[in-house]
Amino acid sequence: MGGRRFLITGGSQGIGAAVVALARKAGHQVVFTGRDARLIEQVAQGTGAHGLRLDVSSGDDNQKAVEACQARMGGIDVLVNNAAFGYAAGIGEMDIDRMKTMFDTNVFGLVDISNRVVPLMKQQGEGDIVNIASTSGMKGAARGTAYAASKWAVRGISQCWQAELRPLGIRVISVCPSEVQTNWGGRTGRNNPNKLYAEDIAATIMAALDMPHRVLWPEVAVFANNPWKED
Ligand SMILES: NC(=O)c1ccc[n+]([C@@H]2O[C@H](COP(=O)([O-])OP(=O)(O)OC[C@H]3O[C@@H](n4cnc5c(N)ncnc54)[C@H](OP(=O)(O)O)[C@@H]3O)[C@@H](O)[C@H]2O)c1
Repeated sequence: MGGRRFLITGGSQGIGAAVVALARKAGHQVVFTGRDARLIEQVAQGTGAHGLRLDVSSGDDNQKAVEACQARMGGIDVLVNNAAFGYAAGIGEMDIDRMKTMFDTNVFGLVDISNRVVPLMKQQGEGDIVNIASTSGMKGAARGTAYAASKWAVRGISQCWQAELRPLGIRVISVCPSEVQTNWGGRTGRNNPNKLYAEDIAATIMAALDMPHRVLWPEVAVFANNPWKED
């Protein structure tokens, strides 16, 4: 797999930035989005990818992202829907506005940008969409109502798109990482070298994409093998 055209949302840090780096290393063209101008610039400088300061919860921004891909690369072969954030609260203390704002990014933003990209992929007769879900969308946990619901939604949406798009040669791959040591929420998974790294998830995504196009991994859960190990 060489020379494909990637659009990666939330590529300014964490898992998204690791996918940007691996895709560039493999010789692909990459456009990525993010919100923090300094981080976007860092990733762009370090990888040669093209970074855009765009918010996936905005339809206008998503249109700009797609148009930038068309102008710079002539289209999009791989869409990685990675941008998301978390909101944790127990039932009885939920701020519904915060939950809705989170859904605007994690769910509606993901649907909106894909809704703009899929017609292009249909025209091409092929393409890959990678949706980053989570093991939080596979098993509920205390204070997980909002975030788990958003990731459960991403898994369900992925299955719907598989039903629609497999016959058209477009693959939809749902990736469910367990805890990854990124700057997620400023703290998740810190200080445990045995937990997952962003690069592990990026490598999983590239492995799924590298499979021959007749092969679909509909959903991949990724766990650290032994996070309990004491060094
Ligand atoms: N870390 C974990 O333990 C874990 C586990 C399972 C699943 N995941 C999933 O993996 C994905 C990446 O998580 P991560 O750990 O890499 O998080 P992260 O380090 O916090 O990075 C999130 C990225 O998404 C971007 N982003 C957030 N909201 C955005 C928006 N509205 N528009 C555009 N970009 C936006 C951020 O941009 P800026 O920084 O520029 O604002 C950043 O580049 C998410 O879908 C997350 O739900 C993470």
